[in-house]
Amino acid sequence: MVQVFVPRETASGETRVAAVPETVKKLVQAGHAVQMQSGAGAGAHIADEAFTQAGAMIEKDAAAGWKAADVVLKITAPAAADVQRMKKGALVVSSLLPLETLDAVRAAKSSGVTLFSLNLLPRTTLAQKMDVLSSQANIAGYKAVLLAASALDKYFPMLTTAAGTILPARVVIMGAGVAGLQAVATAKRLGAVVEVSDIRPAVKEQVESLGAKFIDVGFEEGAETSGGYAKAVSEDFLKKQQEIVAKRIAAADVVITTALVPGKKAPLLVPASVVAQMREGAVIVDLAAAQGGNCELTKADEEVVSKNGVRILGPTNLAATVSVHASETFARNCLAVLQHLQKKKGEPLVFDFADEIVAGSVVTHDGQVRHQPTADALSKG
Ligand code: NAI
Repeated sequence: MVQVFVPRETASGETRVAAVPETVKKLVQAGHAVQMQSGAGAGAHIADEAFTQAGAMIEKDAAAGWKAADVVLKITAPAAADVQRMKKGALVVSSLLPLETLDAVRAAKSSGVTLFSLNLLPRTTLAQKMDVLSSQANIAGYKAVLLAASALDKYFPMLTTAAGTILPARVVIMGAGVAGLQAVATAKRLGAVVEVSDIRPAVKEQVESLGAKFIDVGFEEGAETSGGYAKAVSEDFLKKQQEIVAKRIAAADVVITTALVPGKKAPLLVPASVVAQMREGAVIVDLAAAQGGNCELTKADEEVVSKNGVRILGPTNLAATVSVHASETFARNCLAVLQHLQKKKGEPLVFDFADEIVAGSVVTHDGQVRHQPTADALSKG
């Protein structure tokens, strides 16, 4: 029997939990024993009793939970001290970014703990149901539009009223991956006129099928990896894109930026000089704030007002503001990982490194660092 422990998240502002009663029930049906730390579901409004009804035990002492666990399911990366408490061969599934949490990686290596990073999953069809980047980015894209709509001094939809016609808000979305496409869909549902810029050719059709306009800046050869991700484009291309998109931004009421290139600082798409051309009261929501921001004036988790009165928001964890559905989807992603690793009910989890999901996402296993960039970073310092 595999002992699964789900701790209460301790990061500031974190409201999510990595298991919900629905997934606890399924874990128990699969032959696992589940322990929830008391209060783990509080941020998502799930009481301890709801977890016990689903078949979990409640553990008051977090340290005891970590110690007894074969598997810990967690939203954010584990602390090194918690990893050190774990048994040899135990597993932590979380959205850890190994290069940013080398302490936890070191602890896992020395204590023989397996770290599985949900952030490193390959973007394949099979991995889709485990993909927290998608499930949480979807929420961020949706909520970014709602934040913008409530900060904006205008209606979003076009309205014909007795007091005359109201023109629809103009929204520009930069980067149409998972978050951006959900932002397009949400802004369209609210009735805005939506324009989009991206560097991957596949995006044009996706954006047009949602009823938005694609801003044509041409495409640069090789801007997309075989896995569907963006690659860094040349400085020349970025400059040309900035010039063309600047005109659309200057005319916009709302700009939502989500542009990321994996492993790199977010590309600068909205320099201060472009913000200076926007109208007073316009709103920018920069979802790339945690990676340095797509707008030059963005400050992570702050609202900045530019000299000309543009409001710039840089939220870094919007998923946590939709705690119920963010937890539900994250928990289902974690369940899918355990289902993938357990070949037969009641049997231990299997790590088959010929499987690209395991090979891609396992950072440490059996005292070894399997993720090469992390191994390189550790050997340097
Ligand atoms: P992301 O969060 O890494 O990037 C967001 C967007 O920014 C991407 O569309 C990217 O092309 C765009 N971008 C980068 N530089 C830009 C620039 N200079 N200007 C404008 N836009 C720029 O991407 P995300 O949302 O994680 O997904 C990217 C793609 O990965 C998806 O659209 C899809 O093709 C693929 N994917 C596959 C999945 C699967 O099969 N399991 C699951 C999720 C995504």
